[in-house]
Amino acid sequence: MAIEAIPLSKHIGAEIRGVDLTKPWDEATKKKVYGFWLDHLVLLFRGQELTQEQFVASTGNFGRLAKLIRPAEFRPPGYSRLLDNIMLISNIRENGIPIGALPDGEMWFHHDMLHVEMPHKGTCLYSVEVPSHGGNTLFANGYRAYETMPKDLRDKLEGKRAFHSYNLGELKRGDGKGVPHVKQASHPMFRTHEETGRKAVYFNRLMTARIEGMDPEEGDKLLAAAFDHSENPEWVYEHVWRPHDLLLWDNRCSMHARTDFPEGERRLMLRTTIEGDVRPT
Ligand code: OGA
Ligand code: MN
Repeated sequence: MAIEAIPLSKHIGAEIRGVDLTKPWDEATKKKVYGFWLDHLVLLFRGQELTQEQFVASTGNFGRLAKLIRPAEFRPPGYSRLLDNIMLISNIRENGIPIGALPDGEMWFHHDMLHVEMPHKGTCLYSVEVPSHGGNTLFANGYRAYETMPKDLRDKLEGKRAFHSYNLGELKRGDGKGVPHVKQASHPMFRTHEETGRKAVYFNRLMTARIEGMDPEEGDKLLAAAFDHSENPEWVYEHVWRPHDLLLWDNRCSMHARTDFPEGERRLMLRTTIEGDVRPT
């Protein structure tokens, strides 16, 4: 069966057909699908009934799996254990405590792990249980945002770096230094993707605190305009999940967000990430 990439929207995302994630891939298959990933930024594999081992092996087709720090007691319902490289994203609660990370509701646009020096290059999310509506994941094409940015705004940000944090509130209050308990990193505001050679926006509304070496008032104004531009629906794809979808996204050139969903409904996803190969430049 030929491997096909069917675009999901005009500027980002493709559904891959003709591959089986339950089996090991040969080198030619890996190369072909990796090429589709670089072209489309986000790949969707539908109707994949995977064991945890198969999910981890599927992630491994795209690079080295990242090790995770997570509470050892988290267990997905129906599984007796959770493999080391898998994180749960879930709002399901046991004794009132969510069994997974990022449990509830809406999330603003972000790049995963932008607050560390060597961000993970890719993320895989696999749906087990999905709510009746909402909890959609949005993806924005960061190349497109860079290429279409009004010249005056782009010129002001070109060559600049920004600070990013997992906990923006705390970083905003500090000066970006001397707040040791806040995990943060600084990266170029436009990142050149090391494999495609293309530039993409590399900042986001959820995590980016301030532009380095710029007056905060001026910086905040530029950031507000840059966030608005980057999130233009014209280059956003909104994914409506079905159970057993696997999505893979490239954190080097895309960002993602989540829409709200009903509190009383269950959402359960398995998540893996792929280590970065280089420091962002
Ligand atoms: C993530 C994430 C979005 C979602 O796992 O990094 O942003 O739809 N998830 O749960
Ligand atoms: Mn995320």
